Amino acid sequence: MRSVFWEAGSLHLIDQRRLPASLELKSYTRSADAASAIRDMVVRGAPAIGVTAAFGLALAARESGAGGRDDLIHDLQAAGTMLKAARPTAVNLGWAIDRILERARAYAGTSDEVRAYVLEQAQLMADEDVEINRRMAQYGAGLIGDGDTIIHHCNTGALAAVDWGTALGAIRMAHEAGKRVHVLVDETRPRLQGARLTAWELEQYRIPYEIITDGMAGHFLRRGEVQEVMFGADRLASNGDVANKIGTYMLALAARDNDVPAYAVVPTSSIDFSLSDGSLIPIEERDPAEVLEIEVAGQRSAPEHARARNPAFDITPGRLISAIVTENGIVRPPYVENLPAVRPA
Ligand code: MRU
Repeated sequence: MRSVFWEAGSLHLIDQRRLPASLELKSYTRSADAASAIRDMVVRGAPAIGVTAAFGLALAARESGAGGRDDLIHDLQAAGTMLKAARPTAVNLGWAIDRILERARAYAGTSDEVRAYVLEQAQLMADEDVEINRRMAQYGAGLIGDGDTIIHHCNTGALAAVDWGTALGAIRMAHEAGKRVHVLVDETRPRLQGARLTAWELEQYRIPYEIITDGMAGHFLRRGEVQEVMFGADRLASNGDVANKIGTYMLALAARDNDVPAYAVVPTSSIDFSLSDGSLIPIEERDPAEVLEIEVAGQRSAPEHARARNPAFDITPGRLISAIVTENGIVRPPYVENLPAVRPA
């Protein structure tokens, strides 16, 4: 099953807040509700929120009462602005909306033809996402050896994209090719995408894994138990700096200190060539309650009046990334010089 799909006139999402307890689908018929689903993390992961936003535009096209083509484009632009505001860090959201809007503007047809065309383009993006991820997974699997243990951060699997995913897609491809792999799953505080979602996916694929708390990664790296570190990216700057789930930077530092390669597995839609470095990437700040309201032994872990910080992402400098795996091949440093080679025409 795809994590994001269109069926019978509605957008359907796997409700990722409910996993692993239950596999539930939610359906959407309004673009504002699609934006809320992104904001509230019913759907999450950079490629998945991009495709959700694309279908959100198809919903907006249907909602619009515009009789003329120009009025419809105007309404679509307003919906695009609303959808883009849902989450700021993953560039895929803006990339997906801009691509659909650009094609809709260039499409010569009546308003109803544009409506149908927007949906067609969103569907095309979903199908392309699966194909891109499969190609990326094949490149990434080539970096994994038989018998390797991999530390993986956050959830980068089928749930984070339409299917397959990024770093977890590479691990799954290596497993399907017959390599024996073992995954140490960073639990990924505070929302536990690793413990809840990556572990759930690994069970579906029957890949052996153990969950570790984020702070344990250095310990296992230092003991020589890990051959690769793999993660995805929400946005990559043109110098190879990676914005990814909070904790990625410390993981990459510990990997470098122990001469273990750290690979970012990233579709080219996550590369923001307009940014020279990672300091320019907006970092989403989420509700401190996500940090404070974890329950331990049936009670809230923090004192009642405790305050917390909750940046959802951090920036890992490109110098700590051993290679960037894309659907168009593997890129090695120096990234400023070598990334343009994988840029789609
Ligand atoms: O806050 P999330 O769960 O949307 O963050 C997702 C990640 O950080 C992933 O690692 C990232 O999107 C890349 S993998 C598709």
